[in-house]
Amino acid sequence: MFDSGLGGLTVLREIARARADVELSLVADDAGFPYGRLDDAALLERVVTVLDRSIDALRPDLVVIACNTASTLALPVLRKRFSIPFVGTVPAIKPACAQSKTKRVSVLATAATVRRDYTFELIREFAGDCRVTLRGAERLAGFAEDALRGIRIDGEAIRAEIEPCFIEDGARTDTVVLACTHYPLILPQLEQYAPWPVTWIDPAPAIARRASQLLGAEGPPVDRTAKTYFTSGNGAPPALARALADFRVIVAEGLPAGLPV
Ligand code: DGL
Repeated sequence: MFDSGLGGLTVLREIARARADVELSLVADDAGFPYGRLDDAALLERVVTVLDRSIDALRPDLVVIACNTASTLALPVLRKRFSIPFVGTVPAIKPACAQSKTKRVSVLATAATVRRDYTFELIREFAGDCRVTLRGAERLAGFAEDALRGIRIDGEAIRAEIEPCFIEDGARTDTVVLACTHYPLILPQLEQYAPWPVTWIDPAPAIARRASQLLGAEGPPVDRTAKTYFTSGNGAPPALARALADFRVIVAEGLPAGLPV
């Protein structure tokens, strides 16, 4: 599993639920976080570099890019470069539009994901008669990182980040796509500060199903403790270590250090 940070945990959790026979590790490129602020060329170079080193060190059978910001940019390049299968995480516009009753769907993502051609293409292909609103949130992924570290997040700041998702133009938004893997980490706060209840679409279960399909027949169960490798080489302070333990994840060392910051 690969992400810019701890958003990868929301996907890891679902894969762990789906498959007891798979050893899981998460490469969290915290030294490069947040990806939403990087320009495309810098991000592409970074993702390729981190994955080159991680794949070399960990030798996975399958890589899940548990990051919308990276997947919507780098998937075609990664699939060409490596022979192992890749599963990407891209905005779940298709299921969201299929289930919206009011035909008002919003995509909550990083500022980078909402300007990608990949995202526009998904809307063209799958929005049908839905009106899709794109919201690039600048600070939300950082709030999710803070929450896992036990840092209090300001409710009003969350409200300001998500408010543009809520459209009222004769009909109200009824569905919001969580198009950044960090956001399910703070779902209770999103629900609390939403101006009205909506269905939040988390793509992680669908990603887990796809990964499971590619992994093939299930084998005997393995040790369920997953490992997280932080590219910064920093360990986890106590509050984060406790949060990681809830996900049955420990911090591991052993990835080549010295990745570009
Ligand atoms: N978790 C990432 C995503 O799904 C991005 C967060 C960030 O690094 O800005 O898009």
